[in-house]
Amino acid sequence: MASYDDDPTTRRGLGRRNFLRTAAATGAALPVAGKALAADDPGDSAAPPRPSGPETVTLRVNNQLRTLSLDPRTTLLDALREHVGLTGTKKGCGHGQCGACTVHVDGARVLSCMTFAVMAEGHAITTIEGLAGPGGALHPMQQAFIDQDAFQCGYCTPGQIMSAIACVHEGHAGSDADIREYMSGNLCRCAAYPNIVAAINQAKAGMKEA
Ligand code: FES
Ligand code: FES
Repeated sequence: MASYDDDPTTRRGLGRRNFLRTAAATGAALPVAGKALAADDPGDSAAPPRPSGPETVTLRVNNQLRTLSLDPRTTLLDALREHVGLTGTKKGCGHGQCGACTVHVDGARVLSCMTFAVMAEGHAITTIEGLAGPGGALHPMQQAFIDQDAFQCGYCTPGQIMSAIACVHEGHAGSDADIREYMSGNLCRCAAYPNIVAAINQAKAGMKEA
């Protein structure tokens, strides 16, 4: 499959690994509910851990509090799609390899398929549905993806847009090579990569003004 890393100016694979490492570090920095840890930690007992029952979890999603009853092993991705009903965030691989599930937690990009929902409690979660302004005005990155034809089937697009916004805020959109490197964790089966790079270049100016 084509990727940003196909460009010879990009250090092959390094950006993807950095992105995954960053996402993993962000997830690791989040607090983990005691029961969720207990489910994974056999402690002193030799018996395998038993899953605990549903927990009440309150998530702040797009500035709205959502109280849910969740199995502690529920991923943030499944909580958003199956319990909150926000299906804009997509499930691609389900194990941290494609970036389709990217959301923001406290403004940082996170792979929601690799994050337990309980880890996000007390943090601000933003999904693709939360980007538009109160009057429905599109975020500059959404508008740029439209202007630059930066998608075909669109399945990867929510994750690409969430990642692209974070890429700009991180200061990793200074050049095409930087964009390709720091967006390399988001795969596109339709290979819209050149248009995505163009969209990020268009949006970054508007984002600085915003
Ligand atoms: S669905 Fe999360 S990285 Fe692929
Ligand atoms: S637009 Fe089809 S997977 Fe990216």
